[in-house]
Order: sequence, then C-alpha cells, then structure tokens
Amino acid sequence: MPDPRLNPAHGQAAQTRRVLRGDLLDFTADPGFALPDEAPGVRWRADHVLLIEGERIAAIQPASQPMPQDWADVPVTDHRGQLILPGFIDTHVHCPQLDVIASYGAELLDWLNTYTFPAERRYVDPLVAREGAERFLNALWAHGTTSAVVFPTVHKVSAEALFDMASARHMRLITGKVLMDRHAPEGLLDDVDQAEKDCVDLIDRFHGKDRQAFAVTVRFAPTSTPEQLTMAGRLCQAYAGTYMQTHVAENRDEVRWVSELFPTARSYLDVYDRDGLIGPRAVLAHGIWLDANDRAVLKAHGAQIAHSPSSNLFLGSGLFNWLEAEREGVNVSLASDVGGGTSLSMLRNIADAYKIQALQGVRLSAWKALYTCTLGAASHLGLADEIGRLEPGCMADVVVWNVAKGPVAEHRDEVAQQRLARVLHEHLHERIFAWVTMGDERNLVSTYVAGQCVHQAASVAQAAVQ
Ligand code: GUN
Ligand code: ZN
Repeated sequence: MPDPRLNPAHGQAAQTRRVLRGDLLDFTADPGFALPDEAPGVRWRADHVLLIEGERIAAIQPASQPMPQDWADVPVTDHRGQLILPGFIDTHVHCPQLDVIASYGAELLDWLNTYTFPAERRYVDPLVAREGAERFLNALWAHGTTSAVVFPTVHKVSAEALFDMASARHMRLITGKVLMDRHAPEGLLDDVDQAEKDCVDLIDRFHGKDRQAFAVTVRFAPTSTPEQLTMAGRLCQAYAGTYMQTHVAENRDEVRWVSELFPTARSYLDVYDRDGLIGPRAVLAHGIWLDANDRAVLKAHGAQIAHSPSSNLFLGSGLFNWLEAEREGVNVSLASDVGGGTSLSMLRNIADAYKIQALQGVRLSAWKALYTCTLGAASHLGLADEIGRLEPGCMADVVVWNVAKGPVAEHRDEVAQQRLARVLHEHLHERIFAWVTMGDERNLVSTYVAGQCVHQAASVAQAAVQ
C-alpha cells in the first residue's frame, strides 16, 4: 500500500493527511439572542468528511460523495454519530491557578491574597514553570480547548515556558508576562524598567512566530503603579500587533478600591483607557460593574469582554448582563477564568452562562454560546481566517465529541432524537442544548491541534492499541 504521506500527484513527500468522518457543527454568523429555530449562522453538516492536510483543513464534503482521487488511500477515522466542532477558544484563563482551582470560601480580593498569590510565587522556578505549562496545555486539550488567551505569572520564565510548549505543538496561544509592581507579596513584584525589558525581549523572541502572540498583561489596576500602566500603554502603541489582557470591574470591593487608588479616573475602565491600553486587541475579563459610558468606550475601540461565568458565580462577583452589552455593541467572548473559574470545560462554562442569563430573564441558546466559544472569539481576536471555523484553509484545530455520555444523558439524547421536529434546527437545538448543558470533558473523543492529535479519550486510545 502506498505511503499516505506521499502525494502521488506531485511525486514528492507531502504533508500528513487524515480524514475525519462525523456530524460537523460550526457557525457562519452570530446567531445572537434569536430564538433557536430562527437563529442565523448555524451550519450543520450531517455525516460529512473533513480532509486535513498538514496543519490545515483541505476540504469538506458529504461522506456520500466519492473522495478526490488522490485521497483514496488516506484512512478515514470513523466518528459517525459524533460531533466534530472547531476547537474552543478560552479567552481568559490562568495557567498557574490549576494549583488553586476550587479553593473554599472567599471573594476576589481575599481569594487572591489567601490562595492565588502564594501559588503563583512558585513559578519563579523554571522547572515549576515548565511543568505547570505542560500540565496546563495538556489539560486545555483534554477539555476541548485548542486556543487560549492566558495569564502566566509575573515571572518571565512562566511566559517563556508557555510560549515554548505551545510553539512545539503549533498551538495558537496569546500570553505575556504579568505586570504587577505593587500591592502583592514579595516574590510577585516587578519594576517598570525590568518589566519593560522583559516584555520587549518576549515580543522579539515569540510574537508572530509559530502561532504565538504577545499580550501586554496588566494583572489589574490595583497591582500596577500609574508609571507601570503608562509603560504598558507605551508597549501597546509601539507594538501594534500585540494584544492587551487584564481584569476590569469584576467585584464591587475591587471597583471601590480602584476608585480610591485612581481618584482622577472617570471609571475603572478609564484607568486603562487614558493610558492607551484599550484597542481592538484588548481582552478584559469580567466587566460586570461597567456603566453605559464604559460600554461605549469598549464599542468604539472594538475591545472585548471575556465573560467568565463559572468564576463570577464561584467568587460571588455578580451577574454579567450579556444582553445589555450586546445591545450596546460590546464584543463578548466566553472564558473559564480558572482558577477563579471552577472548570476548564467551555461546556460547563456555557451551562453556567445560561443560568446567569436565566436569572436575568434572558435565554442563551446553545447556538449563541457555541458561536461565542468558536467563531465569535476568533473574530474578536482578529483570527477568524485561522481558527473558529470548519473551512478549507483554516488551521485544523478540531475536536470530536460524544453528544451524550452516561445513562441519563444518553436517555435524554434518545428522547431528543425521537421527538417529532417541526424544523430541523429546533430538533437539533434540543439535542445540542442538552449536550452543552450536561456535557463536559468526559464527552470528548479526540482533540487535534494544527492537524495533529494531541489528546484522545482513554477509551479511544485503548481501542487503538487492541
Ligand atoms: N483580578 C486580579 N487578578 C485576578 C485573578 O487572578 N483572577 C480573577 N478572577 N480576578 C483577578
Ligand atoms: Zn482572571
């Protein structure tokens, strides 16, 4: 049998090819808060094949259609009855906080001092940073997340470790050394000059290479001096392709503290805006306690709020008003915010997002939620040509899912499948909504990053060796 890695059409070594067969779900537009059966942009391709060549999606076609001649020898991985989606994009998550996820009984400022800061101090050690980065990226893949905007720690080595590990797998990662020069314990503080040098060095070495992008990473306003915020704004202006990530208006005590620390700022957001930190590549976690003026500023800049549902519930921070943000033109993405958040699973975070909206009388459809974790996030990050879609030419960051796992979910799925559907979308939404609401990482079958399989469920891996 010919080596499938050899492309006979060209008679030379070609890139690895693979074919995945299953039910493809992705989005071509924002479904918004429309009723599920009226939502635009839902693309459901039942029983299709996804042809992957090297790092990219080469073609997509119905499984019933004959394969292109030069793909005839490529083995097909049969996922019939399973879902194939673009990998999820987590727009705000903390690598070192896997050590403190699910810590008891504190609101934000207490939680930072009691659990988070002590854990982050350990990342000064390059070995801890490397092991932490490896554990973290493996965990993202095991939860179906293939791209992320990540906080490491204040230590340069913690950012280097993430960049190195993600580069090795050619994973789209956005990160940068955390800036914090006050109101944190010894061992977690930098200073303006050294921090600027470290950022410039990281930009030179990693930004724009191997799918890595640098983010100017201000922890939050209270842990940076005005001088450091000015320096951070200077970096954003000087290196236009970089991102900016931070926290804003998460918790009421935090907002009060910021108003005391920055009495001349109009608002918490204004602390960042007046130093030039808010632009189209700004990713601001939370934004629960912003006002209409702030939302107008975010809209004008095309900046995004990384809504972090499980974190907001767990830390008792508040209920994010997604519909209001949407109506006022603010870009919103979804994030796990682990370890304030309680799961890396975007499915679990979607389930929490649904409940947060339900408490405010709003229904979040599975379409809107899944769009937000895929094409929505990709668009807000300026990466829609690369990630978030199942489209020839896009990177093959792809995840295969079981719709139902366990007797209750399997029963629920059977009921959904049997129900007479008025229209396909309504029927489909019932199934998919039950999946996102009951599902988690145990539903995951396999994860591909840049065309390579980086994670397989234990049952799949076992079957492969038998
Ligand atoms: N605000 C400043 N730092 C943090 C953090 O690590 N997690 C959360 N949720 N909020 C923050
Ligand atoms: Zn956070």
